[in-house]
Amino acid sequence: MIKLENVSKTFKDNNQLEVLKNISFEIEDNTFTTIVGKSGSGKTTLMNIIGSIDVPTSGDVYVCDKHLNNLNDKEISEYRNKTIGFVFQSFYLEQQFSVLENVCMPLVIAGVKRKEREETARKYLALLDMLDKEKTKVYKLSGGEKQRVAIARALVNDAKVILADEPTGNLDTKNGTIVLDELKKLTKIGKTVVLITHNMEDAKKYSDRILLLKDGVISYENN
Ligand SMILES: Nc1ncnc2c1ncn2[C@@H]1O[C@H](COP(=O)(O)OP(=O)(O)OP(=O)(O)O)[C@@H](O)[C@H]1O
Ligand SMILES: [Mg+2]
Repeated sequence: MIKLENVSKTFKDNNQLEVLKNISFEIEDNTFTTIVGKSGSGKTTLMNIIGSIDVPTSGDVYVCDKHLNNLNDKEISEYRNKTIGFVFQSFYLEQQFSVLENVCMPLVIAGVKRKEREETARKYLALLDMLDKEKTKVYKLSGGEKQRVAIARALVNDAKVILADEPTGNLDTKNGTIVLDELKKLTKIGKTVVLITHNMEDAKKYSDRILLLKDGVISYENN
């Protein structure tokens, strides 16, 4: 479960920008939740706080029984590597490396031996229907294929929570649909998916729940 209690976030540059104002909500395991809201409304900020890439100015965040506020640096890195899988609009893959090498990367970092990491990576490539391209260099793939590789990489450490920040932003409708279908499938194998999108139609079609972020608060939710 993901649980936010009275989370606020203020950025202090020249003046104070109160992006999130006392937000509280819970996200159940194995569900698909979409965060919508206009540009600058704080969607990425909220997701970064859940992924422990950023910390709230005040308030408490709990993910998978961990109280993120209380984790030390080592525990935070481990949390980011093992519990959370990130998927971004621009895929952040190594273009000159093969599909398999890209998916193996988090396992290299985790110190997993070659045979085991390739077996694990292939399992997730099969799940994303990308196994036949395992030897292909990433720059040769279509956008939709790249995003499926990025999703496989996000899953390879057996992450429980997938945070996807506009994963279809660079894709055409057809590839966008394929990627969202794949993300939706993950809830059936025990993953919790949180998606950010500008596309309300997608939000309605795929989500168990939609959270609308407006003026620093969740101003609407359907469930
Ligand atoms: N590190 C930072 N320092 C200062 N201001 C920031 C920082 N990060 C974000 N902001 C500001 O906080 C607000 C919310 O940003 P955020 O990236 O969360 O919006 P968003 O809803 O994801 O927008 P978009 O749909 O364009 O991606 C913006 O006004 C942004 O300029
Ligand atoms: Mg954003």
